Amino acid sequence: MEKELVIRKCKSCGAIVNVLEDCNCKCGITCCEQPMEKLIPNSVDAAFEKHVPTYEKVEDEICVKVNHVMEEEHYIEWICLVTENRQCMVKFKPGESAEAKFPYIPKSIIYSYCNKHGLWKTEVN
Ligand SMILES: [Fe+2]
Repeated sequence: MEKELVIRKCKSCGAIVNVLEDCNCKCGITCCEQPMEKLIPNSVDAAFEKHVPTYEKVEDEICVKVNHVMEEEHYIEWICLVTENRQCMVKFKPGESAEAKFPYIPKSIIYSYCNKHGLWKTEVN
């Protein structure tokens, strides 16, 4: 498993996959008869501060928060902590707040996923 999360999305039907080991040949991972698009974190033209996870260290944990609306049509679907040997994903529904607690692991990466603005990430210091 890699430390970077690999998320691919179908441009046609919107299916999203969390890829454990990415395809290294040219065929890609296919859905609706076309290669699924690899999402690049922090690349969508949208407000950085509303999408990138922020965290506060409290003893041996971090409290992660995304300062984003949680409306029916537009919300943070999940937050995921990634290290070299673990992925810990917390999913949300509209109306909930995009907050989660994780163990404090220096150099881990926290991702967030907005249903409209895609994938975002920050590194834990
Ligand atoms: Fe958004």
